[in-house]
Amino acid sequence: MLEHLARKWARKETQPIPEELDRSGKIPQHVAIIMDGNGRWANMRNLPRVAGHRAGMKTVKEVVKVADDLGVRYVTMYAFSTENWKRPRDEVDFLMKLPQEFLSTELKELIERNVRIRMLGSKDELPSHTLKALIEAEERTQDNTGLQLNFALNYGGRDEIVKAFSMMASQVKAGELDPEKLDEEVISRYLYTSDIPDPDLLIRTSGEIRLSNFMLWQLAYTELWFTDVLWPDFSREHFYQAIVEYQGRARRYGAV
Ligand code: FPP
Repeated sequence: MLEHLARKWARKETQPIPEELDRSGKIPQHVAIIMDGNGRWANMRNLPRVAGHRAGMKTVKEVVKVADDLGVRYVTMYAFSTENWKRPRDEVDFLMKLPQEFLSTELKELIERNVRIRMLGSKDELPSHTLKALIEAEERTQDNTGLQLNFALNYGGRDEIVKAFSMMASQVKAGELDPEKLDEEVISRYLYTSDIPDPDLLIRTSGEIRLSNFMLWQLAYTELWFTDVLWPDFSREHFYQAIVEYQGRARRYGAV
């Protein structure tokens, strides 16, 4: 029974893919995306896995444009998790070069679009060339007031919470934080997303129905949308499809 429901929930191919969207409807302020299926996309074409990541980078460009055109304010993309270091060395090296490659070709247009770029995740373990490209993009776009594009890179939801608790514990010890005053709002201030609203909609591609350690705190009330489409095949129309579904959902935040 549950399996049947989960399958129904996950598969959207029976729903028509809209070519256009009713823009007067409710648009999510923040869309978070787990970009999954690059490796399978490549395997199906007898290509190396990294070819899937390169194709996935093109989808990133397209989705940023679509989201921006619709008036979405924040897009957060899961580009590399704290667990992805376990992948073969070549693949990790390739993934670590993608931000540079993406920014070297796209930053100009993103700046013209007034997009602000941010990195969410632990900067400590990143190779210096990756970090340099990201910091430069953050600095060059820090005053932009349009869509905010967050790359979750070397990001783990549990790692983020551990780091937040560790900072809070140090401040409690130093007498800078009152343990009696801890609440959700205080904890939120210690996360990478301290100045970013929680996602309204989470999209995950490739048919996997799990969160994979992504934004565990922030997704508490987020609408979840799963599709079988592999990330490199994800298009403007699929994004519209997710938004249409979101527009049909009633968000009650635990109320009736
Ligand atoms: C998951 O697919 C994807 C990733 C771990 C990497 C995602 C990265 C991109 C889409 C490019 C990022 C672009 C920029 C600009 C940073 P998978 O490899 O796990 O696919 P599989 O499950 O089919 O093997």
